[in-house]
Amino acid sequence: MSDTLLQDVTDGIAVLTVNRPEALNAMNVALLQALDAALAALEGSDVRAAILTGTGKAFVAGADIAAMAEMSVADAQAFSVLGHRVARRLEEASFPTLAAVNGFALGGGCELALACDFIYASEKAKLGLPEVGLGVLPGWGGTQRLPRRVGVGHARELIFSGRVIDAAEAQRIGLVNAVFAPDALLDAARATAREIAAKGPCAVRATKRLLLEGPEQALTEANAAEVRAFGKLFGTADQREGMKAFLEKRAPRFEGR
Ligand code: CAA
Repeated sequence: MSDTLLQDVTDGIAVLTVNRPEALNAMNVALLQALDAALAALEGSDVRAAILTGTGKAFVAGADIAAMAEMSVADAQAFSVLGHRVARRLEEASFPTLAAVNGFALGGGCELALACDFIYASEKAKLGLPEVGLGVLPGWGGTQRLPRRVGVGHARELIFSGRVIDAAEAQRIGLVNAVFAPDALLDAARATAREIAAKGPCAVRATKRLLLEGPEQALTEANAAEVRAFGKLFGTADQREGMKAFLEKRAPRFEGR
């Protein structure tokens, strides 16, 4: 783990903290690579939920503008590919990912939050995709994930104007699920992560995949995938344990198999 990316794993919950406060946690290649490696390493571990957050007054204030300023077309495309890879890892992780947006989540920072399954925000959070103001565009999935999260009307307005919105507005349009006092944000994220971690891991994993892939499919195909996934869970120890525990009026002890 690098100094600019902190990781804590406690009771099956990983907290990844971007820690470059002097640059408002702006992401350069090294930081993206560190996040990519950290997420890859969590696959196959017993982690059941992950929280992404930042140190100081920013979640992530975007891709590193100083690093991008002199990029060639080829450099910029490679940087975009790397950002997309990290976003995809958050989105496709075998466990739910939760963004705890403690401050600025701008540009690439907002895009990483959007790649998480859902977003909690501090009252101090500011979110937006201001890239057009720099003469570029959201390059880590923002043009695609923002409309899918908030609808095309809000997404077009925010992306074309580059406007930065506060947490209350972000919640109103459905970008953020819930808003908390700054000191309460991480505890709230951990509490939800604990709720998730207590559920059947095979079931949560299968549900995450259906929720991710369904919108790309025709409804009949997506429903057929749900039927297959539902049936498949009846071949797991988690299903037997979950239902046995219910009938025995006790808490289940899931093993994730
Ligand atoms: N890249 C590089 N450095 C950044 C940065 C970024 N995205 N955001 C902030 N910083 C640096 C500042 O340059 C400054 O460094 P120095 O102290 O060395 O001057 C330091 O962090 C503190 O920032 P400010 O003094 O600007 O802090 P502020 O409180 O006055 O303003 C802010 C905060 C409104 C977030 C402002 O920093 C800002 O507008 N940052 C840029 C936000 C942005 O445009 N993000 C999108 C980047 S493009 C992108 O992300 C492309 C993509 O889709 C992949």
